[in-house]
Amino acid sequence: MTTYFTEAASAETVNARMTDAADPRLREVMACLVRHLHAFAKEIALTQEEWELGIEFLTRTGQICSGERQEFILLSDVLGFSMLVDAINNRRPEGATENTVFGPFHVAGAPEREMGANISLDGKGEPCLYEGRVLDLHGQPIEGAHVDVWSDNADGFYDVQQPGIQPKWNNRGVFVTGSDGRYAFRGIKPVSYPIPDDGPVGKMLAALGRHPYRPAHMHYLVTAPGYQRLVTHTFVGDDEYIGDDAVFGVKKTLVAPFERVGAETEWRSPFDFVLVPAGQAAA
Ligand code: BEZ
Ligand code: FE
Repeated sequence: MTTYFTEAASAETVNARMTDAADPRLREVMACLVRHLHAFAKEIALTQEEWELGIEFLTRTGQICSGERQEFILLSDVLGFSMLVDAINNRRPEGATENTVFGPFHVAGAPEREMGANISLDGKGEPCLYEGRVLDLHGQPIEGAHVDVWSDNADGFYDVQQPGIQPKWNNRGVFVTGSDGRYAFRGIKPVSYPIPDDGPVGKMLAALGRHPYRPAHMHYLVTAPGYQRLVTHTFVGDDEYIGDDAVFGVKKTLVAPFERVGAETEWRSPFDFVLVPAGQAAA
């Protein structure tokens, strides 16, 4: 049946073109997207110039993407969309450690290091001891958990942002827990840094009067056989950006203690990670 386009029935007309040949989930997702997209244009009475500006912005966002740079994920991050999708897909029972955004700077295959080893290889920054346990929901230690950690250096850059300047694998390492579930490593107290803001997403933030900074954090990817994968950070609570992370990654439960120790030349940040068994739904 021919259905001509009308403003009033725009979304329904588009969605009626899909047939049973399409995968049912794809139909559901696309129909919902078209409904919301059309409703958005109607609600805001989008002008032709604004539509063109939007297309230009998305074109530039695509054009700056490369093997090393994913501007669309960055766009999703600054719109809070990455955190929303993460939250929907990682609902966890009370007591479990919360997820947060993965970010673009994880590198698979970081060296496994001796428990307690120093991941800071460039000699910069304020030393900090990170330690704690990987536990199950009953407080029992998990043996054989891989604690994969990464952070920026004292200048606010990840090693992969400064090849040839920082040593390879600077501020990265994997630590495997023993039967007591304990992990420990030395690193630096991280510093806040701007997300890559020299592209269209950075320009959009500036146009919106938003800054590009993330509060200081240590990244963790914690995995153990039989448990759900945990992607998270711990945050420095007194950071000036703790209340307005550019990518909305901060959760109250992820703000970790950072305490002065010894002759006050070193920091200590204790934090336990609580994993959920694979297949267990949220409470
Ligand atoms: C990060 O924390 O490494 C990060 C997260 C999202 C966007 C950019 C950087
Ligand atoms: Fe980061």
